[in-house]
Amino acid sequence: MSSVRIVEVGPRDGLQNEAAPVPLAAKIALIEGLAEAGLKTIEAGSFVSPKWVPQMADSADVLAGLKPLPGVSLPVLVPNQKGLDAALAAGAKEIAIFLAASESFSQRNINCSIEESFQRTAPVIEAALARGVKVRGYLSCVLGCPYEGDISPVTVIELAEKLAGQGCYEISFGDTIGVGTAHRAKALMKSAVGALGADRVAVHFHDTYGQALANVLACLELGIGVVDSSVAGLGGCPYAKGASGNLATEDLVYMLNGLGVETGVSLDKLAAAGRAVCRQLGKAPTSKVAQALAAKLSGADTDR
Ligand code: HMG
Ligand code: MG
Repeated sequence: MSSVRIVEVGPRDGLQNEAAPVPLAAKIALIEGLAEAGLKTIEAGSFVSPKWVPQMADSADVLAGLKPLPGVSLPVLVPNQKGLDAALAAGAKEIAIFLAASESFSQRNINCSIEESFQRTAPVIEAALARGVKVRGYLSCVLGCPYEGDISPVTVIELAEKLAGQGCYEISFGDTIGVGTAHRAKALMKSAVGALGADRVAVHFHDTYGQALANVLACLELGIGVVDSSVAGLGGCPYAKGASGNLATEDLVYMLNGLGVETGVSLDKLAAAGRAVCRQLGKAPTSKVAQALAAKLSGADTDR
């Protein structure tokens, strides 16, 4: 694997779960900072019910406030037709739809069964594609559910095939609660690659048990070349109690740099964008790499 496309999910998956409200200007600065760092796919927000996820209520304003970012895709999360209409009105060129591999998580996250969620996504995907809007699909809880525990890999693959069949160009497999370990992650993703082809598969790990990087490394060996991550390790999931942040983009870039895998991302600029949003949130980045770089910088300040 000579290069990896990173899907930066911090401004959505990260901020949706932060308790401290983040002002519009800081969200815009974050996305522009991430683009400046070289990220080419940045999930910019979500058009879900503001009663369910208030942190994302200003996503249309975020899109409207961004300066032009040539060559950067800015997908937004959409749960239904209402979300698609709002996303299109806000000028979104790519959307991500999401459903769960667990019935209980589906009920808690989007208030319907898995079967009903497919009935919702089908017309939304069709309408988006008809407007020339690309659609990415997320399948969450693929390695475990906070309510049901283990999820059958056979079920996961069947659901992923169904979602891909509805017209998603890529399926992102989410270990939403971060319970996966390398062998299990690799075995599942091997089946995913067999079913969909490596070019339609992305991985989305959370770092709850510190396994996210090991899982990514195992999946790279399968030829998977798209990895989701979140600057500063922001996030979690509002409907997955105890799920800590996503894999941190800084940690991912540092590992890929060490492997000689091209990402096009400047680690220093990325870490600076992460520090800026963390100042806003009043917390430190959970990323080990970000912490090490910050320590180096503060050492340099002391030396001066
Ligand atoms: P519902 O209450 O069943 O829906 O929610 P409803 O159709 O009955 O509508 C209820 C109210 O919401 C109505 O307003 C609608 O107009 C409004 P009211 O009449 O009460 O004033 N509404 C909307 N408003 C704005 N935008 C919309 C929209 N749709 C309805 N699109 C619904 C169903 C799906 C809307 C709700 O459950 C929801 O918004 N859920 C979102 C949950 C969410 O965003 N979770 C986090 C993302 S998933 C995730 O993080 C996992 C992932 O990152 C992968 C991983 O980490 O593994 C992707
Ligand atoms: Mg996530």
